[in-house]
Amino acid sequence: MEIIVPAVIAHGGAGPGPKRQKNLEIAVQKAASILSSGGTALEAAVEACVILEDDPVFNAGTGSVIRTDGSVLTDASIQVGDGRVGFVIAMEDTPNPIRVAADLLDEEINGLTSAGARLWADQRSHLNAKVEGRSPEGQIGDENAEITGDTVGVIARDNTGMIVVATSTGGCSYRPPGRVGDVPLPGSGFWAEDCLAVAATGIGEAITRALLSNKVYERIKNKGTSLEESMRWGIDTLISPEHSVGLIALGPNGPGIGVSNTDMPWATWEADSNK
Ligand code: GLY
Repeated sequence: MEIIVPAVIAHGGAGPGPKRQKNLEIAVQKAASILSSGGTALEAAVEACVILEDDPVFNAGTGSVIRTDGSVLTDASIQVGDGRVGFVIAMEDTPNPIRVAADLLDEEINGLTSAGARLWADQRSHLNAKVEGRSPEGQIGDENAEITGDTVGVIARDNTGMIVVATSTGGCSYRPPGRVGDVPLPGSGFWAEDCLAVAATGIGEAITRALLSNKVYERIKNKGTSLEESMRWGIDTLISPEHSVGLIALGPNGPGIGVSNTDMPWATWEADSNK
């Protein structure tokens, strides 16, 4: 019987921004400790994503960039290799939108937006920053800079072969309040099927136009090219070079890999197969 070794990969956003490699590694360690003690890929991906959402250095959750009207709106998505998906768009007062998205996995409705998403989250007692007095701080975006470091993403694999991709963002900086990026859109910012998953980060419009995560997924699956080669193909052929974009991927064996055309911190961990 083939032994499946747990693993995780996470990224801390594509684009110029503060140094954030060490912060990212804390999230990967969290996922590794969950997986090492027999936890599921779902728990590992969500808890690692929450650590990134809670760290104000990342553009997600608490550190989300402020929109042109001064609002802080968060998006998140989660997909399991068995086909379940959950996503939330433009949530106010929500430092941990990934927990709301994860709660949608087993619901008939799998996507919610804006005030309706917040209402649904309140009914399930998800953290409400307004109630807790814990406003997302928000980072000031710069109209002239591309982005301040965009989106967080985690992919985890457990020893049952379950794979889960979780992504979260405040959106690209200096975007209007109604704008939707790639993170909550299946196939664009993320795709997981069976034991293979891809997550994207960067300029949402470029990623969405390319249906980037799904296209890279299909290439790995159908052409059998390596994770790295397939992600490089996706960025080099489907994305214009002026757009900062990065990808991470994790398959049924081996560690994860990250590829980007800009600065993108990423870190991976795989359990020791001899233990
Ligand atoms: N990649 C995040 C966004 O464009 O919103």
